[in-house]
Amino acid sequence: MRLFYPARSWQLLRSPSKRFYSGAHSPPPWRPVSAVDEWVERPIRPISLRQLTFFGRTLTEPRLISSANYVRTELPTRLAHRLRDIQQLPYVVVANPHLTLVYELYYKAFERARVVPEIRTLEDNDRFCDILREMLREHLVAIPNLAMGVLECRNLAPADEMDRLMNTLLRARISRRVIAEQHLALTETFNSPWHFPDSHDRTDMNADFVGEVFLKCKAKEVIERCGKVAQDLMGNISDSTQIPEITVKGHADATFPYILSHLEYIIGELLRNSVQAVMERYQHSTEPPPPIEVLVCETPQHVIMRISDQGGGIPREILPYLWSFSKGPRTQTRLENLGQVPAMAATMQELQVSHDRKHTDRDSYHEGSLDTLTSRPPNLRLGMGLPMSRVYAEYWAGSLELHSLEGYGVDAFLQISKLGNKNEQVTTRAAIDAV
Ligand SMILES: Nc1ncnc2c1ncn2[C@@H]1O[C@H](COP(=O)(O)OP(=O)(O)O)[C@@H](O)[C@H]1O
Ligand SMILES: [Mg+2]
Repeated sequence: MRLFYPARSWQLLRSPSKRFYSGAHSPPPWRPVSAVDEWVERPIRPISLRQLTFFGRTLTEPRLISSANYVRTELPTRLAHRLRDIQQLPYVVVANPHLTLVYELYYKAFERARVVPEIRTLEDNDRFCDILREMLREHLVAIPNLAMGVLECRNLAPADEMDRLMNTLLRARISRRVIAEQHLALTETFNSPWHFPDSHDRTDMNADFVGEVFLKCKAKEVIERCGKVAQDLMGNISDSTQIPEITVKGHADATFPYILSHLEYIIGELLRNSVQAVMERYQHSTEPPPPIEVLVCETPQHVIMRISDQGGGIPREILPYLWSFSKGPRTQTRLENLGQVPAMAATMQELQVSHDRKHTDRDSYHEGSLDTLTSRPPNLRLGMGLPMSRVYAEYWAGSLELHSLEGYGVDAFLQISKLGNKNEQVTTRAAIDAV
């Protein structure tokens, strides 16, 4: 079966407002060069955690301006590549209202970003930052809409293709947010009155954060903090008092640079699944629930975390579909549940029912405004936790695997690249076209 109809379907999509009226059966023979065509020719320039940190460490005005111009050209380039992916989908798929909404959102952002003139002054940068903030906020509806679109199209295109698309789009979304949020954070650092206001070079070699990158992510602390959130959450939505303890052993002091919100999301989702499984299994038991054991192992290159629970393992019927956004026996319920989630930032803050967590300065900066917009009923099963966590893990060249011991429990293995010198794993058109 022929799946993609590039020449035809992108014709329909070039201008979002016209595409439904363009006549699906007779595309015009001419093909004017569109802005997307132009921008999609430009290569994506991936960045590593080390580059992000190094760049922000010696923060001077020219560096901030150059960071702004990197984001200014990189965002429309990355958007153009993803617009082209969507344009190349079969028409029945792109006509899905949820995917149309995402396409139009991306198209609007692309049109807006590509016309921003070169940034030369701090005032230019402030205006640019306003645009970035607005885009980040507007795009919070993207994940639930993508997820619904992909689920609704499960019978219109092969599920593997839809999963691949979802992975590519989510990874790209993370990548755009990383570069945009990093620049916003650097700008904020630069403008902070307490941040070496009189010095020419606003560098703080002892800073824990460089932009969004937390240089001293401590495995144990992150696990304990996320564990507490998961325990509180499950305690709040269940009558059961059978909340398992979470223990941390091994190289508990392992420290590495990472984007804290990414790590918190992954560990928060894994621990939530474990706590939930153990509580369900022990809800009518008189015995105390067995603890969830986290083992941290540090090697020269990696930090590996193994989360082991005794919650009975993954139900056999869903095991083959754990990593899929579009397949499995629960697709209909997932779709209905997603309908109740208007916006999703995919951050751990969404897991919280109350806002009692001690916020660090960073949290209040980058999520404080988001989490009020993105509350979701915490007990809704969306089937997004594991596949989304894997996208996050692989983004910085890490990995996530699950081993289910039927009738006993689950071991989840999260591997983090410690040195931070691995590039973000973005998908380029060249890589896709080569397949
Ligand atoms: N540690 C675990 N123990 C037992 N089942 C699990 C575990 N982790 C995940 N699962 C199963 O996998 C499903 C999918 O998990 P996830 O992707 O996090 O989505 P959600 O939690 O929203 O359903 C869960 O609904 C649950 O049935
Ligand atoms: Mg889950």
